[in-house]
Amino acid sequence: MSILVTGGAGFIGSNFVLDWLALTDEPVINLDLLTYAGNLENLALLARDDRHIFIRGDICDRPLIDRLLHRYQPRAIIHFAAESHVDRSIHGPDAFMRTNIDGTFTLLEAAREYWNGLNEQGRGGFRFHHVSTDEVYGSLLPKEPPFTETSLYQPNSPYSASKAASDHLVRAWHHTYGLPVTTSNCSNNYGPYQFPEKLIPLVIANALAGKPLPIYGDGRQIRDWLYVSDHCAALRRILAEGRDGATYNVGGWNEIANIDIVGQVIALLDELRPSPAGSYARLITHVTDRPGHDRRYAIDARKIEQELKWRPAETFATGIRKTVLWYLEHRQWVERVTSGAYRQWIDTNYGERP
Ligand code: NAD
Ligand code: DAU
Repeated sequence: MSILVTGGAGFIGSNFVLDWLALTDEPVINLDLLTYAGNLENLALLARDDRHIFIRGDICDRPLIDRLLHRYQPRAIIHFAAESHVDRSIHGPDAFMRTNIDGTFTLLEAAREYWNGLNEQGRGGFRFHHVSTDEVYGSLLPKEPPFTETSLYQPNSPYSASKAASDHLVRAWHHTYGLPVTTSNCSNNYGPYQFPEKLIPLVIANALAGKPLPIYGDGRQIRDWLYVSDHCAALRRILAEGRDGATYNVGGWNEIANIDIVGQVIALLDELRPSPAGSYARLITHVTDRPGHDRRYAIDARKIEQELKWRPAETFATGIRKTVLWYLEHRQWVERVTSGAYRQWIDTNYGERP
């Protein structure tokens, strides 16, 4: 028995693979293109572990996926691979359409052919799990109830539109062809190995480098925050006992405004690594807002709690402390992933935000 993971060298995927192999002996076939966001160093702990088989490749490459399915005969596919950063999707949507839509389509077709060729027992045990986002539901007004699994799809960015399209494909492959699928729509993850283009690791890295902490607009936009290992635990529960065809919203019950997230990170840095120049709060800089910026996301995670008995283990206070400590202890990881291409992105994104 084995599982095939796509995007397992990225932030959530690598946490999932590391946790999986810490908890079970079931091998992982890890297919990742190693874009700017994928980093084999995230998986360094598995360098000599033959339960981890890494293949550098593209989810749009159908012959490659066919070969992998044929060779390793996985009992499940857990699909993380995606272009994941909203700001990048605004600057260049093409890669998002290709990987998130065409890539998911390619995987679904390969999975369908593979699944059709399995014997009855293999077909019964097979599962395609699609990892998606709460952003497909659009933006909430301040007093609106949180997103449920039946909320309308109203994606607002090229990223969320591409993820919404991929969710629809997964749904259709189940409905039309009977492919056994589950989908999860999760809120903002944070924790170890998150690429420092995203708010929390960017703020930590910039503060330690004495650089501005860029707050888009008024900073009162709200997100729900989930510690990444809690997300991985939810995915394992869904894989084990999720209902065929079901979708599950996954969230941390932590609705927090961006400016308060940054405040909590600063408070921890002031405590754990005080700067001789005074509080890192001096570095807060309001910059031009993200175009089409969603104001609020919130997740109603009662379905997964009731059906699958999953609840997050971390509060935001415990999770953010672990996260800040991890980044303090892994300064070299940050230095290595923030290469030339990263600096180019920072110029592109922030250069035009006075
Ligand atoms: P990430 O950007 O850190 O990692 C994405 C990974 O996919 C990278 O390793 C990259 O190399 C790989 N990849 C990209 N294009 C590929 C291709 N064509 N073929 C093979 N591999 C490719 O993303 P993440 O934050 O870990 O997100 C993982 C998944 O979870 C995504 O589907 C994302 O939409 C979803 N998600 C993320 C969050 C979050 O807060 N980060 C929240 C909800 C859902
Ligand atoms: O909600 C789930 C989504 O969360 C995932 O699907 C995405 O893959 C993931 O990137 C994340 O999207 P966000 O756009 O919410 O994450 P990001 O870290 O880019 O931004 C979080 C909030 O902080 C958002 O309101 C924009 C704001 N922000 C972000 C950056 C990078 C700033 O104010 N300044 C910044 O420099």
